[in-house]
Amino acid sequence: MPKPPLRSEPKPVGAAPGPAPAAPLAGRVTLRTLESWALEGKAFACLTCYDATTARWLERAGVPVLLVGDTAAEVILGFERTTDMPLEILLALTAAVRRGAPHALVMGDMPFLTYHASTGAALRNAGRFLTEGRADCVKIEADASFAPLVKSMTRAGIPVCAHVGSRPQLAGLRGGYGSAGRTADEAASIVGDALALERAGASLLLVEAVPPVVAAEILAQTRVPLIGIGAGPACDGQVLVLQDLVGMSDTPPRFAEPTGSLGAGLVDAARSWIDRVERRDIGGREYVLPPDEDRAFEQALRDSALSRRTPCGTRFWKRTRGGGT
Ligand code: KIV
Repeated sequence: MPKPPLRSEPKPVGAAPGPAPAAPLAGRVTLRTLESWALEGKAFACLTCYDATTARWLERAGVPVLLVGDTAAEVILGFERTTDMPLEILLALTAAVRRGAPHALVMGDMPFLTYHASTGAALRNAGRFLTEGRADCVKIEADASFAPLVKSMTRAGIPVCAHVGSRPQLAGLRGGYGSAGRTADEAASIVGDALALERAGASLLLVEAVPPVVAAEILAQTRVPLIGIGAGPACDGQVLVLQDLVGMSDTPPRFAEPTGSLGAGLVDAARSWIDRVERRDIGGREYVLPPDEDRAFEQALRDSALSRRTPCGTRFWKRTRGGGT
C-alpha cells in the first residue's frame, strides 16, 4: 500500500521580505517538532555553531537547529580538511553549544573515522555525543552500506541524521570537495542511499550539493525531515556554515549567499580599537580607590619611592598621578 504523503506542498518561494523579526524559541525543539513542521510544509533553518556565545545569539534569533559540524576543523581550528577534526574537541564544542542554546535541537557531527572502524566503537562514540555533548542526535556521512550501522544506532536509542550526496569526509578519495548526483546513475544512487538509510531508522536526512531534482526525489520517496545544503529550496530544512552566511569566509561555496558582513564588522571594530589604544582613549569605566585608600596609597608610593629611590616607583608615580617628585 502506498504511504500517505508526508509533506504538504512547500510554501511558494517569494521575494525576500527582509530579515524576519527575531522570535526566540518558545520551547524545546525536538525531532517531533521538525517532523510536524515538515508535515505542515513549514521550512526550518539550521546553522552550524561551535561555541556557547554564538549559540546563545542564534537561539535568541530563533534558529531551531544547530549543527556542531566537523567543519569546525577548518572554521575553528584552521585545518585545511574536515577530516582533521579531533573527536574530543568536537564533543567539547557540542557541550558548549548545548549550554548556550538549551532549547535548540543540537546535532553533533561524528568526525572522520569515529564511526567506521567497528559498530561497537561507533556506538560508543555516538553515545558520547548524547551523554557528554548533550546533543539531541548525531550526524554521520553515509550511503546505503551504512544502513546496518544506522540500524544499530537507532536500536541503541541514538537518533541519527544521515548525510548523503556530497560527503566532505570522502574528499581525500574524490580529490576534493564538490557536488554530487550530476549523472543519472549517481542521482539515482543518492536517492537510493536516502531511502535505505531512512528504512534503517534514520530520524533525519541531510543532502549536500546536489541538483534540486535529486532533493525533490528524496522528498517524494521519504518521510523523515530532509535538511538540504546546496540542494535547492524545497528541502524541509536548510543548513549553512554560519561563517559562510555572515560574511566571514574568504571562499564560500557557490550555494552560500552571505547575508551579513561580520568579517568586515570585526575588521572595523579591531581597527577602531587599535586607534583608541594608540590615542590612549580606551573607554569604559575605570576602577577607583575610595578617597581614604587613595590617599593612603599615594602616601605609600611616596614613602617607597623615597626609601628605595627606585626609578620604577617614580615612573609609576608620574604616569598615573601626572606628576610628583
Ligand atoms: O560539518 C558541517 O558543517 C556539515 C555541513 C556542511 C552540512 O556537515
